[in-house]
Amino acid sequence: MKKSKTSFFCQHCGYMSPKWLGKCPSCNGWNCFAEELVTDPDSGGRPDLVFGGKPLPIFDIPAEEGMRTVTGIAEIDRVLGGGIVSGSAILIGGEPGIGKSTLMLQVMKNLAMSGRKVLYVSGEESASQIKLRADRIGAQAKDLLVLVEVSLEKILEQIRKIEPAIVVIDSVQTVYSSDLMSAPGSVGQVREASSRLILAAKKSSIPLFLVGHVTKDGSIAGPKVLEHMVDTVLYFEGDSGHAYRIVRSIKNRFGPANEIGVFEMRDRGLQEVSNPSAFFLAERPENAPGSVVLASLEGTRPILVEIQALVSASNLGMPRRTAIGVDHNRVSLLVAVLDKICGLHLGGSDIFLNVAGGVRVEEPAVDLAVVSAMASSFLDRPVDARTVILGEVGLTGEVRAVSQIETRVKEAARLGFNRCIVPKTSTASLTKTAKMEIRAIVSLKELLETLF
Ligand SMILES: Nc1ncnc2c1ncn2[C@@H]1O[C@H](COP(=O)(O)OP(=O)(O)O)[C@@H](O)[C@H]1O
Ligand SMILES: [Mg+2]
Repeated sequence: MKKSKTSFFCQHCGYMSPKWLGKCPSCNGWNCFAEELVTDPDSGGRPDLVFGGKPLPIFDIPAEEGMRTVTGIAEIDRVLGGGIVSGSAILIGGEPGIGKSTLMLQVMKNLAMSGRKVLYVSGEESASQIKLRADRIGAQAKDLLVLVEVSLEKILEQIRKIEPAIVVIDSVQTVYSSDLMSAPGSVGQVREASSRLILAAKKSSIPLFLVGHVTKDGSIAGPKVLEHMVDTVLYFEGDSGHAYRIVRSIKNRFGPANEIGVFEMRDRGLQEVSNPSAFFLAERPENAPGSVVLASLEGTRPILVEIQALVSASNLGMPRRTAIGVDHNRVSLLVAVLDKICGLHLGGSDIFLNVAGGVRVEEPAVDLAVVSAMASSFLDRPVDARTVILGEVGLTGEVRAVSQIETRVKEAARLGFNRCIVPKTSTASLTKTAKMEIRAIVSLKELLETLF
């Protein structure tokens, strides 16, 4: 008999090592290795994705595109790139309590209402708990089937038997295969369960949603180890203390990545926010120093967000620098540029930056707005409330072009802004409108002259 083989896996990132390690060389986590049985892929029993095992001319391969199922929740359809592609595997991750189960139940309800048989597999809650939530959010449909099960083999058998139009596994960390020795929720189990579910989905063209918990302490394997196996990765942003929830596509094989959908958590479930710009600017203080608005491009959609800065004299030897929603390193760089090029000496000040509404803005086009907000707070002079500021800042204080300026300026005009400060190099692609004044600038010095 062949000896069974074990390896050690990092429970955070899935790194494999033949012996136990104290520190993971991949993610630098400490004390996160656990021993797991490794199944030999050649030993048979494991199905794979080859159909016939022969290469085919690309003309003869049927295209899957076009077979999209629309959920009826517009924000989700957009995040997915126009609906659910048949046979695709979608990972939906987020912290506990953020609303994953709620959203999935709402999607399932919509699909069941349109006459599709859908299967919601839960390994976390009892059927009556699910029923309670379904009653609360109004998810009553006879084609919505609920299965409370954790055994992978039994789930696969039910999928074969029922042949649903769509399957949700809530959550993938509870699914347990008896082929493996390790505990449910460990990297080996999560990977094995997901790969077999995904294969089953691909072979029968059933779309599959995998719900995955993200935990900070890493006691269960995170969805990170699954990202490469699935077609689409959606993450919930925002925190459960706020009412808003943002669903962002981190990866999408069938649509643009980085697309976001905005929701508000209500007692009747997640409500779509169809005008996020107005939503994020709703509580903006007008004519307060340190508040600046920019048009950020999230996926294909422009969204107006407010950047807030508070610069105050520090009594610490090493002043505080806190940035929430924008890149911390980027902020340090911009502080140095302001100091050296514009002569605004922020070195002795505590600086706090925040993107209102809890959004994260990752793109370089945010630079100019960050600089303006810091300068505004430092000088204690407000920035005009109807002005939107866009641009990337270089190390010599030059202002660089941003992409898709036209879309952003249009969104600003739609919400009643009447002046845009933009990089000069971007203005070529802008058409002039009567309502919007365009100020093209080339350097930070010019920015400060324009603003104050
Ligand atoms: N009666 C209620 N009214 C409003 N919100 C509720 C109510 N019950 C639960 N919630 C919200 O639903 C959230 C739980 O959502 P759930 O889908 O179970 O999260 P997850 O599956 O991501 O762990 C809670 O954090 C809470 O915000
Ligand atoms: Mg849940």
